[in-house]
Amino acid sequence: MPTHMAHESGLLVLVHVFIMIWHLGTYIVSGEQKVPCYFIFGDSLVDNGNNNELHSKWKANYPPYGVDFPKGATGRFCNGRTTADIIGQFIGLDEFLPSYIKATDEEIIRGVNYASAGCGIREETGSHNGGRFSLDMQLLNHKSIIKRLWRLKHNISIIKECMYVVNIGSNDFINNYFLPEHYNTSRRYNIERYVEVLMKQYSKQLRTLYKMGARKVALFALTQIGCTPFAIKKFETKGKPCANELNKAAMLFNHKFKPLVDKLNNRNSDALFTFINITSILYPQGDVPLRNPPCCKIKGEWACIAGSVPCPARIFHIYYDALHPSELSNVAMATRAYHAVHPSDAYPHDIFHLVRIRH
Ligand SMILES: *[C@@H]1O[C@H](CO)[C@@H](O)[C@H](O)[C@H]1NC(C)=O
Ligand SMILES: *[C@@H]1O[C@H](CO)[C@@H](O)[C@H](O)[C@H]1NC(C)=O
Ligand SMILES: *[C@@H]1O[C@H](CO)[C@@H](O)[C@H](O)[C@H]1NC(C)=O
Repeated sequence: MPTHMAHESGLLVLVHVFIMIWHLGTYIVSGEQKVPCYFIFGDSLVDNGNNNELHSKWKANYPPYGVDFPKGATGRFCNGRTTADIIGQFIGLDEFLPSYIKATDEEIIRGVNYASAGCGIREETGSHNGGRFSLDMQLLNHKSIIKRLWRLKHNISIIKECMYVVNIGSNDFINNYFLPEHYNTSRRYNIERYVEVLMKQYSKQLRTLYKMGARKVALFALTQIGCTPFAIKKFETKGKPCANELNKAAMLFNHKFKPLVDKLNNRNSDALFTFINITSILYPQGDVPLRNPPCCKIKGEWACIAGSVPCPARIFHIYYDALHPSELSNVAMATRAYHAVHPSDAYPHDIFHLVRIRH
């Protein structure tokens, strides 16, 4: 592929990021922590090491993952910080959250990251690659953390003031519906019906989170998963730049987020659910993204080769491996999730407003 194309789109993102960082100066005025704690749920887009301890084929605790992260390869599927890490910094946390699997009594007061690579909204999603915490399991883990806080005699009512981020759903497509050799969902449902069933389950899980005290919850919609180097290689693109069937599925799913947050907020007058419209942030003109090569050298379908030397110009790469965004892309997404530049970036609130509302 012509490298100038990658550079062009990389530059577009770069200009974007500069503008956002410039905006941002206004919002990081002090290191004051804006909420008492912060909890993260999701998949490899926000996993910070939970899979390291599981029997899973999805792990990123080896170089060149973490090449730009202060602590090196921690299990993050990125060269640097995830969107959840960056949002934590905006909120004013002075340290990254601990992974659930390793969190100490002292650490859990500030919050926990439950995310697990390969998992999904559906229980079976990702099972062909071994251990993972499904979203249902992550909710159970959260319940056990709340019990632990209670036993430690912490004031449990503060968890209503905390911030919650959920970034999940991609695997229910790429590691379930679009993997018919391992999963039967595509034989049981057409895509429209599947998305409905998926959303119904997600909605139920989010109500469970609400019942456990969550009031400020940001939900990340999906990126154009059909434009990842992984998908372009694996799926039929029919001469188009991206695997359109996957993008269509992601779009069907994304269109359900607005009614989802409306329903959750209307049913529970004290709830503040919001959704982050990744389409608005990354593809504002609906532009079909140019082909973007991964930064690291790939083995198998998408993972970086252990010990390989990553590309030097990481600032020009949208993807780090063949499936996961680079830190640069994560900065773009987190920045506008925190402070919306366009009204459609976050609905009905951006995180900046969410963390300031008091009950
Ligand atoms: C517990 O936290 C709530 C909410 O922040 C606060 O209103 C309440 O006074 C606290 N209770 C105690 C015993 O500190
Ligand atoms: C589909 O697969 C699940 C396990 O992933 C299994 O429990 C279920 O019985 C299967 N359903 C059909 C109709 O084959
Ligand atoms: C998300 O943003 C895109 C692009 O701005 C817009 O077309 C779309 O309607 C938005 N989605 C929702 C549900 O608001």
